[in-house]
Formats: sequence, C-alpha cells, structure tokens
Amino acid sequence: MEKILILDFGGQYNQLIARRVRSEHVYAEIKPYNRISVDEIKKEGYKGIIFTGGPHSVYDPASPHYDPSILNAGIPILGICYGDQLIAFMENGVVSSADNSSEYGKTTVNLSDNALFRNVPETNICWMSHSDFIKTPPASFKIIAYTDKCPCAAMYDEKRSIYGVQFHPEVTHTEHGTQILRNFVFDICGCCGDWKMDDFIDQSIDKYRKQLEGKKVILALSGGVDSSVAAVLIHKAVGDNLTCVFVDHGMLRKDEGNLVEQTFSSKFGINLIRVNAEDRFLSKLAGVTEPEKKRKIIGEEFIRVFEEEASKLGKIHVLVQGTIYPDVIESGSGDSAVIKSHHNVGGLPENIMFDELIEPLRSLFKDEVREIGTRLGIPHELVWRQPFPGPGLAVRIIGEITKEKLDTLREADAIFREEISKSGQEVLPSQYFAVLTDMRSVGVMGDARTYGKTIVLRAVKTDDFMTAEWARLPFDVLERASNRITNEVKGISRVVYDITSKPPATVEWE
Ligand code: XMP
Repeated sequence: MEKILILDFGGQYNQLIARRVRSEHVYAEIKPYNRISVDEIKKEGYKGIIFTGGPHSVYDPASPHYDPSILNAGIPILGICYGDQLIAFMENGVVSSADNSSEYGKTTVNLSDNALFRNVPETNICWMSHSDFIKTPPASFKIIAYTDKCPCAAMYDEKRSIYGVQFHPEVTHTEHGTQILRNFVFDICGCCGDWKMDDFIDQSIDKYRKQLEGKKVILALSGGVDSSVAAVLIHKAVGDNLTCVFVDHGMLRKDEGNLVEQTFSSKFGINLIRVNAEDRFLSKLAGVTEPEKKRKIIGEEFIRVFEEEASKLGKIHVLVQGTIYPDVIESGSGDSAVIKSHHNVGGLPENIMFDELIEPLRSLFKDEVREIGTRLGIPHELVWRQPFPGPGLAVRIIGEITKEKLDTLREADAIFREEISKSGQEVLPSQYFAVLTDMRSVGVMGDARTYGKTIVLRAVKTDDFMTAEWARLPFDVLERASNRITNEVKGISRVVYDITSKPPATVEWE
C-alpha cells in the first residue's frame, strides 16, 4: 500500500493534514520527527513526506530539526509553514523574523504556474499563521508564490521535487488547499489512491485471521463506537475464539449496561461476559479528586478485571482494544504535551499479563471508524452513537466519585439527552451530556431555601474531536432540560450551559 509520511514538528493541524490526505484515498501516517530516522523512512518506502508546521523559530536552539540528508533521499517533500522554513534553513536559505511581516488569518496569495498549483486560480485566499518568513530561498529553489508581506509564500526545487508553502493547505480557510494537497500526492508523489475502507476491512480480517489463528482473544467492550467496531471486526476474523468482556464499572449512563448486553449477545452472537464491578471501582476511587489520578485508577482497574476474567477462561493470549488514532496522539506519543491520558492508552499498566495487545483501529480517525462500522453492518444508532469516554461519568463528576453523585448525574444526563432527541433538530450535536460540579448555590423551591449542587450542560459540534465548537442549542431545549432537572433530580438547584469551545477547553470536564 502506498503511503505518505507526515513528519510531525509539533504543529496544531497535523492530524488534519493526515485526514485530508486520507480522504483522497492515500494512506498517511504521522510520526514525530525525533522517532524516525532517514534510513527508516527510506525502508518504509513512503511515496512522499509532508513536514508539518510547528510553533518554533528555526533559529531557536530548542526548535526541532531534522537530518538534512532527507532532502537528498529521492522522496518528494512538501514543507508546510515551519516545515517550509526548516527546508530553507537546512539548505542555507535566509529565514527572517520581522514584526511587520507576520501574517495571521485569511491572506491573498499570488501563485505561479506550477505542478503544485495545477487547477488552482492564480490569485486566491490562503490561511497564514506565521511570524518568521523565508527572506531568501536556498540557491536551488525558485519562488512560486508571494503575498503583500511575504516575498516567498511558496518555493520549489524542481529536480528533487521539494516544495514548501508558508500557508496551510490543510485548513479549510485555504480556498484550494485540498487541490494543492491532491496535486502533491497524486501528480508529484505519483500516488494512485489505493487506500479504501473495504480493503482495510478485508486486509484486517485476513491479517488477524492468520495472526490470531488458534489463539483465544479477549476484548474490552464498552459499547461505544470504537470498541464495538473493533469487536465486530475481530469477531469476523476469529469467531468464537473471541470473548468480549464488558466491565460495568458503575460509571455508565442510565440503562446503558443492559443495552450493551442485549446488542452484542443477541444481535451479533458474540461471546459476552458482563462483569458488575461497581463496588470495586468505587472503593478504589474513594477520596480521589485529582482528574489524572482518577483516569489512571480506572484504566488500571479495567486491566485488572480483564486479567481476572481471562484467567477464569483459561489461557488467553491476546487483548484487543478499540484505541483510535486521536487517542494515541493525545496521550503524548510524540513530543506534544500530554493533555489527558485516555484510559485505553495512557493508563495501560506495564506488567500487562497478556502476550499480545492488538489495537486494530489504532491508525484510524473517528469518521473512518464509523465508516468501517457501517460497512460491517453495525446498526446506525450504534455507529452514530455519541462517543462516551472509557472512564465514563467519572470524568464528568468534579471531585470525589460516589454512588450518590453518579446516580444524580445519571438522572440529569438522561433528561438532557432525552430533551435533545425529542427536540427534532435535524443535525444533533456531536456530543452532549451533563456534568456534575461540586459547586453549591442558594435556590428557592416553594417557600423553602435550597442549597443544592450545580449541573452543567455541555453540547459540542465537531468532526474529529480534536477541536470542537460549543453547540448553539435552541433556548427552549435548554429551558426544558433545566426545568426538568431542577424539578426531577434531587439535590440540584441550578443548571448552567457551557459555552466554551475546544481549545481552550476540552470536551470533557476532567
Ligand atoms: P477531550 O475531553 O479530550 O475529549 O476534549 C475528546 C473526545 O474524547 C473522549 N474522551 C475519552 N475517550 N477514554 C476514551 O475512550 C478517555 O479517557 C477519554 N477522555 C475523553 C471525549 O468524550 C470526547 O469525545
């Protein structure tokens, strides 16, 4: 399979680059710049490399650099923003930082006739986000674009097929960005677009059928999209050798446990063991208030429960998890800061007792996982279910987790979700839920003073969950949810709506 390498220098849009390339049916993978050598790149046989942007200046001693011999490896390269400046720096061009040359936002750019800009109008709008700029490109490079402020908005070395753009073609604000990326991967790198979901499914089933032949396999089923798709995919490969363990850790939404049990046992005919482990998780979490600690405890306890179930089943060789690409990246696989340890990656204990860990969806983005789920015949309502985090309601309760708080949150959350689904909106938010804070406030009910807790309602719109916008819900939906929650849920005297996007906030509260 042909593939493109996204060499990650710490830019904020790196996943977007990979998704844009993949949506052209060309497989793209992201590797931190300091985790892959030139020799490894050559061995992997990438058809092209994209150097990402990044927040640094190339002259900063702390900035990420790369072995300049990559430029002579015979592989086409496209540098974006910092990646562009890095190419110039590596070949002795001049990168400058002048205050009056920085550009941010939509910018008019003038393009020359060049393979990179085929089918792109000469003058168009691009997304810029830089303070440094290339004042003089390296000797073998020609300038192929400019803006009012930036003399070299793009450059190329024809002989070596090396390109650099100061703007961000991966961002939708760049009017013809997709066409530019298309030109790079197809015309310049010579890809033909062989990355197809059906192929991924067939190849995965085939691969795991061989790799797991005769082995007993256990899978952590949460009932969420990712683990459900992983379960059905692996079930197709190994059939009854797969046992799914569904840990009811007591932090699930209202009625969720029964739904998962029914769907997987009766509809899919998959071996399913439900473990009711609420007490066990709650006693481990008693007194714990720090969010990362809660996540680690839950992650670790999950694995312990699996191990115990596995030992009851005799020798189990393989553990399967529904980890997806954004989990891998957000848990700090590269140089980027750890934002949250998603339990299925960051919390994995080192002394894991299974011989093998398989993560069949590890290279996929959420929308790709959904597409696979649909192709595998998983019901629409499950494939399009809003995501639910592994640690469950624990990351939606501020402070210590108790059974009482969980029950309160479950009720409030069920009301909010019910009101949203009854509202008849054509497009539902990507994720919507309630959060229970520890904050108390004074209220009045009947003639009596109340001093209850505050529920936060959160609803976001997003494609990839890496960034998200708070959803503009109709006021009457919010009003009905608020009225019902304060009336029907004991101990709640105030309801507020979260109007923070991601960034700066995250989707979950912890
Ligand atoms: P954040 O809060 O990181 O959430 O903006 C982004 C998306 O990831 C989900 N999420 C998790 N999923 N285990 C998971 O499987 C986790 O620990 C976890 N934490 C957050 C979150 O619900 C949202 O969809």
